[in-house]
Amino acid sequence: MASIQDKDTWSGRFSEPVAELVKKYTASVDFDQKMAMFDIQGSLAHAQMLAECSIIAQQDLADIRRGLAQIEQEIAEGKFVWSLDLEDVHLNIEKRLTTLVGDAGKRLHTGRSRNDQVATDIRLYLRHAIDDLLALLKALQIAILDLASQHTETIMPGFTHLQVAQPISFAHHLMAYYEMLGRDSERMADCRRRVNRLPLGAAALAGTSYPIQRERVAELLGFEAVCQNSLDAVSDRDFAIEFTACASLVMTHLSRFSEELILWMSPMVGFIDIADRFCTGSSIMPQKKNPDVPELVRGKTGRVNGHLIALLTLMKGQPLAYNKDNQEDKEPLFDTVDTLTQTLRIYADMISGIKVKPDAMRRAALQGYATATDLADYLVKKGLPFRDAHEAVALAVRYAEKKGCDLSDIALAELQTFSPLIEDDIYQVLSLEGSLASRNHTGGTAPAQVSAAIASARARLAQA
Ligand code: ARG
Repeated sequence: MASIQDKDTWSGRFSEPVAELVKKYTASVDFDQKMAMFDIQGSLAHAQMLAECSIIAQQDLADIRRGLAQIEQEIAEGKFVWSLDLEDVHLNIEKRLTTLVGDAGKRLHTGRSRNDQVATDIRLYLRHAIDDLLALLKALQIAILDLASQHTETIMPGFTHLQVAQPISFAHHLMAYYEMLGRDSERMADCRRRVNRLPLGAAALAGTSYPIQRERVAELLGFEAVCQNSLDAVSDRDFAIEFTACASLVMTHLSRFSEELILWMSPMVGFIDIADRFCTGSSIMPQKKNPDVPELVRGKTGRVNGHLIALLTLMKGQPLAYNKDNQEDKEPLFDTVDTLTQTLRIYADMISGIKVKPDAMRRAALQGYATATDLADYLVKKGLPFRDAHEAVALAVRYAEKKGCDLSDIALAELQTFSPLIEDDIYQVLSLEGSLASRNHTGGTAPAQVSAAIASARARLAQA
């Protein structure tokens, strides 16, 4: 890192330079340079407003624009020299601007503080990130819909307690994740509204004595509103916490999905195969193909949940208004965005590459007396109280278990010993297909319902 030759930004107030270790400890430029383009964007809007309000001259604005354009290019080309002596992204850019355009650069900070500047930068960064993430969530939802639409009649066991419970379609199972991701998108979009408010104009904490036009800056930057209290504007990071909570939920949903993919891919279950490009082998066991990607998604969920706790803890003890503690908001936030972005990107592709093994799914559904509830419901429809039906079917399952067969393999006369209400229409009820088809209401697993759910999901996504 280059060291600056000229006076430090606030050296007038101090009698000795800051200790080298302290400089490293307090600097944020290594990570907050990630916000450079947003810092420039914010400065351009601020400068334009200052000129429009005659707080700086038109010539100053022109100089600032010229200088910032050059800086933007230097950063894009990787030629910008970041200096630890200049602490953070804001001072690095401001100093370079002054070197390039002179006094106009020094005027840019009129009516502004790094406190409202950084709060603005984070919000611009996060708004941009949310827009990217919303698109990625949508792409994953589409991948799920594409896979689901091929499997509305592929029958697998549905589980509770990881025990075979009732037959469902693979599509129905997938659509559960579609729904979760739908709520995740809603949450992100809602969070965006609170991110999208302008802190600039709050200055250090109390506002500024210059005749600024905050609403104009908000308009230039595409913010929906301005933060209504200057202390709140510079100090709270609830929007970042809220975003990280949304991200934690997305990761949690994908972690559950991953857990299932891992289980389904185990040779002991064998419901699916994940494409080789998402797996790795073992350095010692030649037969192994490991589902690394879903395992890492599950693991990275802990990392994002950790960031949420870090941000909550960062905030909880801070008195108003700005405190340097807040500089610690960036790394957890950036890492949350990066982790979620990479995860979503890879996930959509992985879902598209899943190979489904319907025979194994069907075999498993046939093994666990998955249609026992259907038999009970059949008896109830014939007038037996549900608890009595439950008991009769429990006895029938015990009998089948002893015989080592499925309920549908028991002869009618034998079945009738459990209830005289049973007739030969029972075999349709005990079939996997019959069980699915009978759950024919909104949210049920009947192929007709799941197809309708997929179609309406597609229509909604096409509108969004
Ligand atoms: N790098 C600082 C941060 O991330 C910028 C704001 C500094 N403000 C201050 N009063 N020291 O929060």
